[in-house]
Amino acid sequence: MADESKSGILGHLPPLPRPALNNSVIGMEQAYRQRKGLPLLTEADIEALRAGQPMPWEVGGAAAASVPAGAPAPVATPAPSAPPAPAPPAAAAGGISEEVAKWVAQGNKWSKSTIAAEQARRGRKGLPPLNNAEMSALLGEPVEASAPVAAAAPAPAAAAPAAKAPSGPISAEVAKWVAEGKKWSKSTIAAEQARRGRKGLPALTDAEVAALLGEPAAAETPAAAPVAAAVAKPVAAAPRAAAGPPSAAATVARGGESNTYVGTPAVGTSRAAASAGVASVGPDDNDINQSRRRFAWAAFAAFMTAWFIAFFRFFLPRTLFEPATSFKIGYPADYGLGVDTKFQQKYRIWVDRTPDRLFVIYARCTHLGCTPDWKPAENKFKCPCHGSGYDSEGINFEGPAPRPMDRARIERAPDGQILVDVSKLYQWPKGQPSQFNDPGAFLPT
Ligand code: FES
Repeated sequence: MADESKSGILGHLPPLPRPALNNSVIGMEQAYRQRKGLPLLTEADIEALRAGQPMPWEVGGAAAASVPAGAPAPVATPAPSAPPAPAPPAAAAGGISEEVAKWVAQGNKWSKSTIAAEQARRGRKGLPPLNNAEMSALLGEPVEASAPVAAAAPAPAAAAPAAKAPSGPISAEVAKWVAEGKKWSKSTIAAEQARRGRKGLPALTDAEVAALLGEPAAAETPAAAPVAAAVAKPVAAAPRAAAGPPSAAATVARGGESNTYVGTPAVGTSRAAASAGVASVGPDDNDINQSRRRFAWAAFAAFMTAWFIAFFRFFLPRTLFEPATSFKIGYPADYGLGVDTKFQQKYRIWVDRTPDRLFVIYARCTHLGCTPDWKPAENKFKCPCHGSGYDSEGINFEGPAPRPMDRARIERAPDGQILVDVSKLYQWPKGQPSQFNDPGAFLPT
């Protein structure tokens, strides 16, 4: 049964055996636990869920029987011959701590990615990292006799087996990548480690990580310098105990940096998963990606700017400036007999004077509204659109125009000038009485 004192509450998670869960599902579970005040999933839990394996606090039915032979031995009982370790001796010298021994005793075989996540968690919490013996025990690998806590302090160089040594040989695949000359970033390597964990492939060794990082090969892997040679002849793996403090490469390889959430969640990682701290790997922050981000942000800013301008423009009045409908056009004495076109452009009118009256023709064809032209040589108006013709008084006589052109209201202003108002028009509809003789349709002269 699950250890309910830790994070051992399934919540909405499916019981064992369960398939591998993606980040979205895990993120929703985390969010659910946050809402309900339940213990949150740890990094180790998340990694196990993603790998489709039992979480560290879960006990598989047959797991107890599958505990590696060396695993039960390492209980945190100090060996009589060992001096009392000043600090956590297990972490420092390759022993197995009580916590790890408890996990091992529960019979759960950890994956490499789960261990990497645990390493990352310990790094964040300031806890000592898992040592080689602990990792071997959790991986279900045989643990050397020197692994137990107390005896491990002065661990001999040959104590740890090199079966899975981080400083192992460089595989042909890695050598090929290195030969291509591209220097990998730590996050890329971490992503590769995670991929291998998911696929069940062996993790990158220290030598491989160092080669991909472009770091000089460690002293224990001198043969790794010429990478091409390493393809044919694997580098001799140095024992873990002799490796000394872990290199940066080893930190990447085993520290689980790939499982550190660094800001932008990877593609496919839901917001809930990101907020819950689910492990994810983002893209490399190289120049191309930076340029893409800048371009995307610039496009977004331009779009938002245009949108806001359009939005605020909506509140401004749409003012249409039209010419005045009432205006003065001078004195009657200013006009001689005939048609005067000087106000055609400005007011769209013609001033027409006959021997007995003065009137204003509104320059609009009564067919479809075009502006006819005055043809003085022919003494008529001619519409350019469909050929309607009007005589000098605007009376239609040819073409499709149905009636004479309209006339605007005119009157004498107090100052004696002619005041025209084109908002009031006089018409002569076909078959109906003419309005051209109405008061206001003309001025007697
Ligand atoms: Fe003038 Fe048609 S609009 S003739």
